[in-house]
Amino acid sequence: MVVLAAAVVTKSGKAVISRQFHEMQRSRIEGLLASFPKLTSTGQQHTTVETEHVRFVYQPLDELFMVLITNRQSNILQDIESLHLFARVVTDICRSCDETSILRSAFELLCAFDEIISVGYRENVNLSQVKSSIEMESHEERIQEIIAKNKEQEAKEELKRRAKQFEMQRKEAQKRGQGFMQGNFSSNNGMGSYGGYSASSDSLPSMRESPSSYSRPSSSTPSAASKAKGMQLGRKPKAANLFEAIKPDVEEPLLNTASLHGHKTAASNQESVHIDIEERVSVTANKDGGLEQMEVRGVLTLKIADPASARIKLALKADDDASIQFKTHPNVDKNAWKDQQIVQMRDLSRPFPANQNLEVVRWKLSTRDETAVPLTITCWPSPAGNGSCDVNVEYELENEELELQDVVISIPLPAEPTADVSQNDGSYYVDRARRVLEWQLPVINSSNKSGSLECSIPGNDADSFFPVTVSFASEKLICGVDVLSVSNAENNADTAYSKNIIMTAEDYFVG
Ligand SMILES: *[C@@H]1O[C@H](CO)[C@@H](O)[C@H](O)[C@H]1NC(C)=O
Ligand SMILES: *[C@@H]1O[C@H](CO)[C@@H](O)[C@H](O)[C@H]1NC(C)=O
Ligand SMILES: *[C@@H]1O[C@H](CO)[C@@H](O)[C@H](O)[C@H]1NC(C)=O
Ligand SMILES: *[C@@H]1O[C@H](CO)[C@@H](O)[C@H](O)[C@H]1NC(C)=O
Ligand SMILES: *[C@@H]1O[C@H](CO)[C@@H](O)[C@H](O)[C@H]1NC(C)=O
Repeated sequence: MVVLAAAVVTKSGKAVISRQFHEMQRSRIEGLLASFPKLTSTGQQHTTVETEHVRFVYQPLDELFMVLITNRQSNILQDIESLHLFARVVTDICRSCDETSILRSAFELLCAFDEIISVGYRENVNLSQVKSSIEMESHEERIQEIIAKNKEQEAKEELKRRAKQFEMQRKEAQKRGQGFMQGNFSSNNGMGSYGGYSASSDSLPSMRESPSSYSRPSSSTPSAASKAKGMQLGRKPKAANLFEAIKPDVEEPLLNTASLHGHKTAASNQESVHIDIEERVSVTANKDGGLEQMEVRGVLTLKIADPASARIKLALKADDDASIQFKTHPNVDKNAWKDQQIVQMRDLSRPFPANQNLEVVRWKLSTRDETAVPLTITCWPSPAGNGSCDVNVEYELENEELELQDVVISIPLPAEPTADVSQNDGSYYVDRARRVLEWQLPVINSSNKSGSLECSIPGNDADSFFPVTVSFASEKLICGVDVLSVSNAENNADTAYSKNIIMTAEDYFVG
């Protein structure tokens, strides 16, 4: 045994996270780490300090310390080098090295630590190898994703609202005997500014209606708890307190919105064990309709709210297709996965960490097989000789197992934001601000697998009607990953769980 533990500690010696590579009592490691700050003298550039039994090798990480505890016989030069790798891994995973970020990424960090040191000895790895073996997504990216999703949802709702308004406008116009495509509607009701929506009052009530539920995420810090108490008692907060009280909202409004949504779903339909299975499909097709590349990326995220139900295993199924590449989290038992498609901890005595989004399985499928594409789109623009093109667009559901919802096919309007639609399935909408014709199809499934739209659009150049972009959502996946059962890893008793499956199009375009 050489390296006994790797830890991130506060300046006062409180362990934020610590990984022991040697059987050690929790009180022992906490005692060692608590004694550490007293041994270091401020202002000195030392990176090691020794006691009678152990040596600390350390370096500052902003307001924290990265510390290795080694025995006194350990090779100090090698330990310093390991320390640097630990510090780089931490900064790489957390970006900002504060307690909250470290705690958020604790699972990834501990996985990474295990890649560097094994049973006390240094593994021969560098940063890029550690990174690729844990292949984690940073927390920031995760939040960005949540924000993007919320925006997407908002945009969809906005779309529906506008479609309704459009319909009303059309009826009005028909009453008055006007052609309904004649502009003026996006400018006369202030709808022109698309971005204005999120600032509109619609989104405010949900932010305001339940302050108690979104002060909850921050109430784990003692100061927030005491503030909440102060407010309950109805004491008039001092100005400084008032600022403190609103600060979390000011700093993290997006995070709070996201967790607010999270809380709502958690309360309504999430079990203590919740599984999200998500696929994103991207397709690049050429103007003739030929497939250039299709890629599916999937991830199964496990979220356990109650540590008491964290000792579980999941039986999954997936399509039997050798071209789907699966990757499991480093702490997941690879053989159980390979042989039986069971997801369980490598070390069965350990529970899954609770209250985190654990990406336990990922998969990827890349193909140029045209029959694998969910939906093919053909767009035929032909110049009419009068400054417009006749544009004919068709879709066909290739994979009849799927049911695509909220399909929107967007065709660029290169010259003017107008289109004269002569025939169509579904409905359509001219988005003047984005200069696209949106063709909307609520459901495409095997009983309704193809459709077409014919229109005349100003513009001479047939190439300028590309790229045609497509968006949709589906509750069925391409790779067929699903949960068969969740059971207790010790006694095999079935465990209740909830799941959410979604496939969405991302970068799906023709041309
Ligand atoms: C890390 O190690 C791998 C394999 O030994 C090597 O290919 C790679 O270049 C190394 N990366 C760095 C940044 O040193
Ligand atoms: C556009 O709408 C405004 C306000 O509703 C109206 O005054 C104007 O005449 C309309 N213009 C056209 C070209 O219809
Ligand atoms: C151009 O011709 C097509 C039919 O060939 C017609 O539908 C369209 O309205 C015409 N466009 C203009 C701007 O005259
Ligand atoms: C097929 O789908 C289109 C677009 O969603 C819709 O307009 C049409 O009514 C549907 N047809 C049937 C038979 O469901
Ligand atoms: C396809 O969707 C339509 C409309 O939602 C539905 O009525 C129909 O039953 C679906 N067909 C199949 C095969 O699921």
